[in-house]
Amino acid sequence: MSNCPTPHIAAKEDEIAKTVLMPGDPNRSKFIAENFLSNIKLVNNIRGVQGYTGEYKNTPVTVMASGMGMPSMGIYSYELFKFYDVDNIIRVGSCGAINNNVEVMDIVIGLGASTDSRYDKKFKLPGTFAPICDFSLAQKAAMNAEKSGAKYHVGNVLSSDSFYDFDPKDKYAWAAMGVLAIEMESAALYMNAAITGKKALGIFTVSDQLIKEQYLSSQERETGFTKMIEIALSTAEDIYNEN
Ligand code: HPA
Repeated sequence: MSNCPTPHIAAKEDEIAKTVLMPGDPNRSKFIAENFLSNIKLVNNIRGVQGYTGEYKNTPVTVMASGMGMPSMGIYSYELFKFYDVDNIIRVGSCGAINNNVEVMDIVIGLGASTDSRYDKKFKLPGTFAPICDFSLAQKAAMNAEKSGAKYHVGNVLSSDSFYDFDPKDKYAWAAMGVLAIEMESAALYMNAAITGKKALGIFTVSDQLIKEQYLSSQERETGFTKMIEIALSTAEDIYNEN
């Protein structure tokens, strides 16, 4: 018996590709589909969370938003992995850098996703889980970042439950542990990949430098975003060609 559609995704079982790109913002998924994919089809629009399936060169790709925060990412990524049998989810998002060497417009590849959320408590582990990306995806993404000439960093990010920083000291504590940047979704994505035996990766454009208080202009956001999408789509293509 098929569990598709799900409460949050209207697509038929075979309408979602094996690799899914996930921006946070539904408008971004429309933008990616319209500007980078061919033969696109709208496969979901529940709650305005637009999902499109199309092709990048010859690679079938679905692009669908995760929404903001770990509960939202938790729902969409679990349904995709578990019920649509998606193999790979690549989050493409923005982040705020907390390391002095990481500058606005740089690319960050999230090898690990530390978190201040309680999402891991659902798994009832007798200890602390270390959410990590899939190494083969990270390796491919780093190769593609290298080829694109982007300035990129590979390391730990913080998936935070709050965008607003009520205690400014918190970010320095994470930075002291070598965490490069803050975002809000990847730890849930990595944990869902772990529990379902699937693969995940987060790639980010640095939109804010939180230590130096530097912020991207909207024009720069667009340019930085394009580079990240190209890295993610080339990675999807590499996975497809490998199989
Ligand atoms: N915090 C969390 N998520 C973010 C930020 C931030 O400062 N910037 C972009 N995504």
